[in-house]
Amino acid sequence: MKPCILITGGSSGIGKNIALELSKEYSLIFISRDISKIQKVVATLHSPNEHFIFECDLLDFDKLTETMREISEKFKIQAFIHSAGVSYVSYAKNFDFNEMIDCAKINLYSAMLIVKFLLKKNLKPYLKDIIFISSTFSKKGEIANSFYASTKGGLDAYMKSLSLELAPNIKVNSILPGGIFETGMTKNLFDEEQKQQILKKYPLGEGKTQDIAQGVKFILDCRWISGQQIIIDGGYSV
Ligand SMILES: NC(=O)c1ccc[n+]([C@@H]2O[C@H](COP(=O)([O-])OP(=O)(O)OC[C@H]3O[C@@H](n4cnc5c(N)ncnc54)[C@H](OP(=O)(O)O)[C@@H]3O)[C@@H](O)[C@H]2O)c1
Repeated sequence: MKPCILITGGSSGIGKNIALELSKEYSLIFISRDISKIQKVVATLHSPNEHFIFECDLLDFDKLTETMREISEKFKIQAFIHSAGVSYVSYAKNFDFNEMIDCAKINLYSAMLIVKFLLKKNLKPYLKDIIFISSTFSKKGEIANSFYASTKGGLDAYMKSLSLELAPNIKVNSILPGGIFETGMTKNLFDEEQKQQILKKYPLGEGKTQDIAQGVKFILDCRWISGQQIIIDGGYSV
């Protein structure tokens, strides 16, 4: 069997393209809340029969614990990629506590719970990489995105300490994408005129989900990189 990569958020956008990029070399284990959607993605991958789906909503921590138990009995996971995420666009004065908790559970706490499982005695020896899909908003302020940014900032702070805890055998890194306009999260946010205005701030022009997937592949292939927030944003943050 090919080496196994556990991935969240594989049903759509950036995660879907990461899956496509990695499906030739790896067997992918998907945690997804929408079985029919993820089945359609798997059908488009290299060697569809070598990938496996586990149904779980990341908001349901009891189910996630049960799912991780099942996965850990069946697979030796070599890498974990957390691409699942939701945005939370709100001015600070309008924050809704329940919505904030849901956003933090998906973007941050579910990743921590999954990692906790992967560090169990019987699984840890197989684990080589942890990669979080964070955001440039983790480093750069953005009006009406402060809560989303804080979940990504939390993810990056967790990543850095974790990289020290888990060295030298496990690399832990984040990728901070700039705006990718073709995903479920972003495709209805802006009209064409607004999009072209925003793209003026991107020296390398428009980024695609493949650009982020290539970053993931780069980290997996690179032996000597850990604890890093790798910005892939076409030069936007410069
Ligand atoms: N697009 C951008 O401009 C951009 C920029 C910076 C960072 N990011 C980050 O990139 C990652 C991927 O986002 P995207 O842009 O590709 O958006 P997307 O197309 O909406 O993908 C989000 C993924 O998260 C999954 N997800 C959401 N809530 C979930 C839940 N409760 N349980 C299980 N899975 C859940 C979705 O599953 P379903 O298909 O079932 O909804 C989907 O697979 C996110 O972490 C996002 O914060 C995106």
